Amino acid sequence: MMVEPAVEIAMGPDRMIVTIDGPAGTGKSTVGRELAARLGLALLDTGAMYRAAAAIVLDQGIDPADEERVVEAVAKEDLHFDFSKDPPSMLCSGTPVDDRIREQDVTRLVSRVSAIAALRTHMVRKQRIVAHQHPRLVAEGRDQGSVVFPDADVKFYLEATPGERARRRAEQMRCAGQDVDERALRVEIEQRDNYDSTRAVGPLRCPEGATRLDTSELSFDEVVDELERIVRQRIAEQTPTRGDGGSRPGRGAEGAAGAGEG
Ligand code: DC
Repeated sequence: MMVEPAVEIAMGPDRMIVTIDGPAGTGKSTVGRELAARLGLALLDTGAMYRAAAAIVLDQGIDPADEERVVEAVAKEDLHFDFSKDPPSMLCSGTPVDDRIREQDVTRLVSRVSAIAALRTHMVRKQRIVAHQHPRLVAEGRDQGSVVFPDADVKFYLEATPGERARRRAEQMRCAGQDVDERALRVEIEQRDNYDSTRAVGPLRCPEGATRLDTSELSFDEVVDELERIVRQRIAEQTPTRGDGGSRPGRGAEGAAGAGEG
């Protein structure tokens, strides 16, 4: 009788931090989610944290200019992820806010809120705590490789043309049943890029040592395939060859897909 070979589930070292930075609309979130699933890593969607902060500001009627109050209110809500959900659910004081944080008023305010230096310090601290608790992680967000995890194992910087990013964002919004003006969206994206890359606090930049990938001409699968290939290559370089095969990377490691938590 044929004996099935054992499925190789474990892969890579105990710690594997992969960061994905880049401007809005380059597909960081969806790519990060799929990459995490394929590699059996947890996902840290840091945009969700800044969105939750903006929702708190709106829902509590806080003046966003009152930075001290903003940070105080956000800290009080004790933002957390529920990693038992796929994708992880964003919790404010233990209540899921995943739908609220995707609403348009939040999207409009989040860039301004995320420019508050003291709030970024608070978020960076929280993100590092998440990585401590989930050391096998895909951390996605514009400062993950440049500021939060400069010593990450693998760093990516995704780019795409403003036109393509507007097209993708419009498609996402249409799927969510929202009305869209794609041209206005493109202008908004260009303005936000300009603001994001020139702002004093946490300007957007390509992290040192990151692999840059222009995704404009690539399909979603092509982007994820390329990122996965690079991560697996890095793991192979890092992993000493062991007789037991338990921590060797390889295509068989797909068995870990969807495991969610690292
Ligand atoms: O990726 P997103 O659209 O969910 O991000 C929401 C906003 O938060 C966007 O304006 C960029 C900002 N952000 C940030 O400043 N730093 C991060 N690490 C993640 C997102």
